Amino acid sequence: MDCLVCHDSTGTYKKFPTDCGNPVYEEKKFGDKVFKPVNLKEVAQHVSRPSRKNCGACHFFGGGGDGVKHGDLDSSLSAPLKSLDVHMDKTGLNYNCQRCHTTEMHHIQGRHYSDPAANDHKAAMPKDSANRIACESCHTDRPHKKNQKMNDHTDKVACQSCHIPLFARENPTVMFWDWSKAGKKSEDGKPIDVKNKETGIAYSTMKGELHWAKNQVPEYFWYNGAMQQMKVGDKVTEINGPIQLYRVLGSPTDSNSRIAPFKVHRGIQPYDVENHLVVIPKLFGKPGTGAYWGDYDWMKASETGMKVAGLPFSGKLEFRETVTYWPLNHMVAPKEQSLKCEECHAQDGRLQKLTGFYMPGRDKSQGIDLLGWVLVAVSGIGASIHGLLRIFKR
Ligand code: HEC
Ligand code: HEC
Ligand code: HEC
Ligand code: HEC
Ligand code: HEC
Ligand code: HEC
Repeated sequence: MDCLVCHDSTGTYKKFPTDCGNPVYEEKKFGDKVFKPVNLKEVAQHVSRPSRKNCGACHFFGGGGDGVKHGDLDSSLSAPLKSLDVHMDKTGLNYNCQRCHTTEMHHIQGRHYSDPAANDHKAAMPKDSANRIACESCHTDRPHKKNQKMNDHTDKVACQSCHIPLFARENPTVMFWDWSKAGKKSEDGKPIDVKNKETGIAYSTMKGELHWAKNQVPEYFWYNGAMQQMKVGDKVTEINGPIQLYRVLGSPTDSNSRIAPFKVHRGIQPYDVENHLVVIPKLFGKPGTGAYWGDYDWMKASETGMKVAGLPFSGKLEFRETVTYWPLNHMVAPKEQSLKCEECHAQDGRLQKLTGFYMPGRDKSQGIDLLGWVLVAVSGIGASIHGLLRIFKR
């Protein structure tokens, strides 16, 4: 990455979408958008420590647009109010990203990849926890007033589970993306672009159908801080059902795991039936290059893309459901909005699907219930005999 992406404070250091990371040196058009040349001298004279906008230039827009990937990182965090994020609140604590993601010698902390792009940044849990940042770093693991039941939860329930009750609370995020619907054109053969004012692309010929949503309830999983991502060329092992592109690692019997909240993103993607591979199609390019966005032909795009990736392609194409998991760490809500006891401690509560542990209010043990009723009956009988004896004796 070049320095100015993170260190420009003028907000004018913009890059041209298809210029391999170069800023604009001469006025250029991309679609209807005009990119003006960057005044590099001005920018160089206004470098500063990174703001939320600097980091957000990439992290808010992952996946090709605002809030597409993460449910807890989007442009609403550029200048949020306390109701959205108690830490980044522009009128309160006003934390920048590196306040939590402490940075020394440009090693930005807080990552859980097992396979980061740069190997010297490898630090993922659980092998090396030194680079991990956590809520506990500032709050300790007993942040609540003495004797409050919440303190007994912090060993099994991650802080985020109770303190990020809903995600995408201001801007919507993409929950479902169906690539198989791409390619439809209007009657006169032109690409279609349906945008919702509130959200973003609802349908486009290039990308297919997207479902956006706000104020979403997270899904919860046992999580030890590490995830396993499927890599290029990995064989798909799921014969039926959704392909897990990511797996959340952790279990109720592992003392390093806690219940944590996630955005679960579902998609429909091309798949090579014979080779059991998720297809990497070539998307970008002019007509005639095999690119999907040029020719709108999945077969050609898959063939070309897989060739570039150095993978086999059988020509037997199918569309299959895929799943990815996105841990939620941002958008910590004001304390009044923390999750209430009964949202978990109920049979149809938020932790309904998690198994392997006992939770009062949700779980029942027939044996213990029976034992309880036997005890009640025995005490009843005992008390009656005692009472009768006293009446009799008097
Ligand atoms: C991914 C974003 C990012 C990139 C790219 C980046 N920096 Fe930084 N830089 C940071 C952060 C974060 C800090 C720490 C700021 C803080 O603590 O508030 C920092 C701090 C610094 C500092 C202050 C001294 C220090 O080490 O704390 C200097 C000088 C600096 N960067 C120069 C550069 C130069 C030169 C480049 C390009 C070679 C560069 N940075 C690229 C994010 C970045
Ligand atoms: C109040 C503290 C805090 C602030 C402020 C904060 N983060 Fe984080 N962030 C975390 C924690 C905690 C994690 C989880 C780290 C881990 O599991 O190692 C995290 C994780 C992440 C991740 C990894 C997400 C993933 O899907 O795995 C990214 C990217 C990230 N933060 C970016 C940012 C950016 C960009 C900002 C500023 C706009 C920011 N963070 C501000 C606490 C914070
Ligand atoms: C030019 C785009 C860009 C900018 C600007 C940027 N990042 Fe990143 N960031 C990335 C990419 C790409 C990765 C994945 C790197 C890898 O796999 O090793 C990443 C990884 C991360 C991770 C680890 C995420 C994970 O899931 O393991 C954190 C945390 C993070 N960045 C925080 C920041 C912070 C804080 C800033 C601002 C100081 C920042 N980034 C600025 C592109 C960017
Ligand atoms: C089981 C749910 C639950 C868990 C887990 C949990 N909290 Fe809380 N937390 C709450 C509730 C509910 C409140 C509001 C208490 C009140 O209003 O008095 C709260 C309040 C707080 C407050 C404000 C305290 C005050 O007295 O002003 C902080 C700070 C806090 N939590 C941080 C954390 C951190 C850090 C963790 C993880 C180590 C965590 N919480 C784990 C439910 C939880
Ligand atoms: C860099 C330090 C830092 C980190 C990391 C951090 N916090 Fe905080 N947090 C604070 C400070 C400071 C306050 C304000 C304390 C106060 O007002 O008494 C605060 C306040 C809170 C509050 C109370 C908000 C209210 O309504 O007053 C909650 C809840 C909370 N944090 C939860 C979390 C959670 C969950 C995480 C992890 C995702 C986290 N914090 C990470 C420093 C931090
Ligand atoms: C995010 C979901 C969640 C919320 C909210 C929650 N709990 Fe729990 N609770 C759990 C889980 C999971 C366990 C089992 C953990 C274990 O085995 O230690 C548990 C265990 C318990 C237990 C039995 C174990 C013990 O420590 O005594 C009690 C009692 C309890 N919770 C009370 C409460 C009360 C009171 C509240 C509200 C202040 C609350 N819980 C809020 C998830 C939750």
